[in-house]
Amino acid sequence: MNSEPTRNLALELVRVTEAAALAAGRLMGRGDKVAADRAAVEAMRVVLNSIQMNAIIVIGEGEKDQAPMLFNGERVGTGQGVEMDIAVDPIDGTRPLANGTSNAIATVALAPRGTMFNPGPFLYMHKIAVGPEARGCIHIEASVEENLRAVAKAKGKAIEDLTLVILDRPRHAELIAEVRRLGARIRLLADGDVAGALMTCWPDSGIDILYGIGGTPEGVIAACALRAMGGEIQGKLYARSEDEVRRGREMGYDFEKILTMDDLVASDDVFFAATGITNGEFLQGVKYFGNGARTDSLVVRGLTGTVRQIIATHRLEKLSRFSAIKY
Ligand code: FBP
Repeated sequence: MNSEPTRNLALELVRVTEAAALAAGRLMGRGDKVAADRAAVEAMRVVLNSIQMNAIIVIGEGEKDQAPMLFNGERVGTGQGVEMDIAVDPIDGTRPLANGTSNAIATVALAPRGTMFNPGPFLYMHKIAVGPEARGCIHIEASVEENLRAVAKAKGKAIEDLTLVILDRPRHAELIAEVRRLGARIRLLADGDVAGALMTCWPDSGIDILYGIGGTPEGVIAACALRAMGGEIQGKLYARSEDEVRRGREMGYDFEKILTMDDLVASDDVFFAATGITNGEFLQGVKYFGNGARTDSLVVRGLTGTVRQIIATHRLEKLSRFSAIKY
């Protein structure tokens, strides 16, 4: 089937993540997570509402930290045109941004209406993610050893040559001990497991696997990105208490269910954009210079698998003449 090139919404989404990064980047190292989140959310909302689409926020962000939110169920876009689900994480890595450390990014993902997993109020999930070479080899319920062996085999490496990213949290003590016993290398991430999942698809990052428990919003966003980039993520909701299990049951959530890529986002027609706020593995942070700034972004379209890196120079003085966003 031949057809003319169709609209690539990711190229419009990148203006959303650029705006969030430019607005929040000003607050790097200022120790104020809430102010940074607010700046990113407000900038994001303005640009999202200028895009011709009829989107509903399935994954908003902020609940966990009582931070300013783009609300679940909020409609964004002009209200005309394609009907989409949208997942936003205005800052993945609010703490690194507040501290001026690495890997804070602004992200947005879009998929056709009804195709994104809605985690409801359940904030955490088990995750395992890999890049394209190891797709189809992982299983969230297999042992760490089985997964590492399978990925090493798929990538033609020894287990000792594998590098995992794991969030540096006490809940991962056993996982970390097991990976160390097996002899694989570990990069502990202070924060930011969307960036961690993306690293598995980024050849130069040297990262093979993301493993461990992280946020569900971040899991769904990572699933959109990895689906588009040919990688794989599997998940399983993680309950922090018996009460959560009970509430989950009442609401029809199953904490034993394996969440495959198809469960997390059931379409190849996904769009993903991310912009670096602080310097990271594969995206540079926002750099300010006299009256301007430079951003580094990633733009991915699932249907074609095209991955673009966009370095943009923004003339803040010019923008300030008409922009509703304060940069
Ligand atoms: P926020 O910056 O949005 O708070 O998320 C940072 C993050 O590290 C995510 O990347 C990760 O999924 C989640 O927090 C892990 O949660 P917690 O810090 O509670 O372990």
